Amino acid sequence: MLSLYENVKSDNLRDRMENKFKRTTVTSALPYANGPVHIGHMAGVYIPADIYVRYLRLKKEEVLFIGGSDEHGVPITIRAKKEGLTPQDIVDRYHNLIKDSFQEFGISFDVYGRTTSDTHHQMASDFFKTLYDKGEFVEQTSEQYYDEKAETFLADRYITGECPHCHAEGAYGDQCEKCGTSLNPTDLIKPVSTITGSKPVMRETKHWYLPLDKHEEWLSKWILEDHKEWRPNVYGQCKSWLDMGLHPRAVSRDLNWGIPVPVEGAEGKVLYVWFDAPIGYISNTKELLPNDWEKWWKDKDTRLIHFIGKDNIVFHCIVFPAMLKAEGSYILPDNVPSNEFLNLEGDKISTSKNWAVWLHEYLKDFPGKQDVLRYVLTANAPETKDNDFTWKDFQARNNNELVAVYGNFVNRALVLTHKYFEGKVPSRLTLTEYDKEIIESFREIKARVEKLLNNFKFREAQKEAMNLARIGNKYLADTEPWKVAKTDLERVGTILNISLQLVANLAIAFEPFLPFSSAKLREMLNMESFDWNDLGKLDLLTNDHQINKAQLLFQKIEDDEIQIQLDRLARIKQENEEQNYRAQPIKKDIVFDDFTKMDLRVGTVLACKKVPKADKLLEFKIDDGLETRTIVSGVAKFYQPEELIGKQLCFIANLPPRKLRGVVSEGMILFAENNDGELVSIIPAKEVKPGSQIN
Ligand code: MF3
Ligand code: ZN
Repeated sequence: MLSLYENVKSDNLRDRMENKFKRTTVTSALPYANGPVHIGHMAGVYIPADIYVRYLRLKKEEVLFIGGSDEHGVPITIRAKKEGLTPQDIVDRYHNLIKDSFQEFGISFDVYGRTTSDTHHQMASDFFKTLYDKGEFVEQTSEQYYDEKAETFLADRYITGECPHCHAEGAYGDQCEKCGTSLNPTDLIKPVSTITGSKPVMRETKHWYLPLDKHEEWLSKWILEDHKEWRPNVYGQCKSWLDMGLHPRAVSRDLNWGIPVPVEGAEGKVLYVWFDAPIGYISNTKELLPNDWEKWWKDKDTRLIHFIGKDNIVFHCIVFPAMLKAEGSYILPDNVPSNEFLNLEGDKISTSKNWAVWLHEYLKDFPGKQDVLRYVLTANAPETKDNDFTWKDFQARNNNELVAVYGNFVNRALVLTHKYFEGKVPSRLTLTEYDKEIIESFREIKARVEKLLNNFKFREAQKEAMNLARIGNKYLADTEPWKVAKTDLERVGTILNISLQLVANLAIAFEPFLPFSSAKLREMLNMESFDWNDLGKLDLLTNDHQINKAQLLFQKIEDDEIQIQLDRLARIKQENEEQNYRAQPIKKDIVFDDFTKMDLRVGTVLACKKVPKADKLLEFKIDDGLETRTIVSGVAKFYQPEELIGKQLCFIANLPPRKLRGVVSEGMILFAENNDGELVSIIPAKEVKPGSQIN
């Protein structure tokens, strides 16, 4: 069997497997309900998932699209604490905000549930119990930090201390944000509990582990041999995990927010958020279909597809499948299309730094332009590598593609039909060679787009649809029906008939990508419904069919609208830079004697000039109260020589002389240096006698 698989190109393989299934369950990662959603979430997960589901629905396939909020986990409890609210308050707020954003952008979930629902708590709890009863877990006791005042174990994020690498204060138990190093809580120097500020102690605690090592063999075969068609980024990440060898993973935590571990002796312990969240896909299905959910999760004829971002790969390809397999009655995912990350104007999107385009804010600034964002995010989808969103590109794609190509073509075809034929579809009579060529080119569109969509290549699929619009736009520009109308109305009819059939085809082809525009088009064309199988056909609109008035599908976006967005980002960047400013850590202690040994003094600058052939150095002549001394200092970048003449500066007087570029320097002038390396002179608050000591 295997060798057969290997010899078939993976595209064909999937095309063949397609027919094996009766229905498809599509899930999209459940976003944490601790903040709004941004363009990175959309480009990575929700738009591709929605395109795929809309496509299957248009094909009249049986499909269910599951979404929901992930409402447990430590970050939510931290956010709540910061705002003086309960975790439930936080998740209520963001669940609704996120749900509304998705709806406004046309993400067509069949259900959008939440992991705080009763159905979910019950199902996740039962799932754990089943595995527990089957002996699928191992119990293990380990030592973890405990806050004696708060009487609670501390999650990694609840412990801060000095980073063992860069010695910055305030590093977290899992990471130092200053130098980026991943840490264990026990790595921190002088750890402190963020709950009470006290010093945590080590205490024993028991947890349940999913022994992934025991699942390694079948996982290896299932992924590395049976799913070679998975995207290279997904396959590659799985392979590297498997190559490193799998280890048991704790599925419980000491925390008071989550689903209680349903076994005796587990007081104060909850299911690890990554254990309960994926079960949310199943419980949300049950929430929607209380009596009919099982066929979507247990029937061998069901195909399961998880849409996720790259940081979720291991959980969906290794951990969750191991859970499902251990339970025993569930199907496993058939594919896990995962995207890489989307950056914003060259920098990583960051919720905490507010470096993002938030969906609810976008809609305030660009009302009614959901499809524009959908289009741009798909055109730049980070399918194979990280990609960048820029506002200039957003504007260009809107103005040059949506407005100038797609919108322009549609508008001309409809307006001309009203102008010459009172809005009735004219007959198609004698065809020229060029007409036939055009007709041929859109006959192939169905097969082309299908092949790409079946293989989760959304970016290229959308490009195909746009190419069709380009063909139409060029066709009208080439045939110039507005000129032909003066002499040959029958010919105009043929051109417009072909154009209108093309417009109807575009409306269908774009429906998965730009659903709002397709709905408008359907209304303009006065079509009742769309069917994917009509794609490529020439008779979507019958002769004399009455169409409605043309409305603009897209509108030009002006420079000033883009500038507002760029200004906003520039402001955020500056605020972040100011906030991020941190002084250097304090040096190691010295003894008082070390200080008194230094002879620090004030002197008056008598003269100052550049040191030849040394662009950094200035040579100062300083009156030190006893004599004139020469000091060379590397501040030429910050001061013109004449600027400091007559000023009083501080210097160390008892350093041994040192030769710099041929000049003997007798001491060092003191400058304040900020983190950017800028040097600023230190001048006494009022004039003092040259040679005054600094004590
Ligand atoms: N909340 C997770 C994240 O945003 C995704 C959870 S997906 C699920 O990274 F499988 F757990 F549901
Ligand atoms: Zn550090």
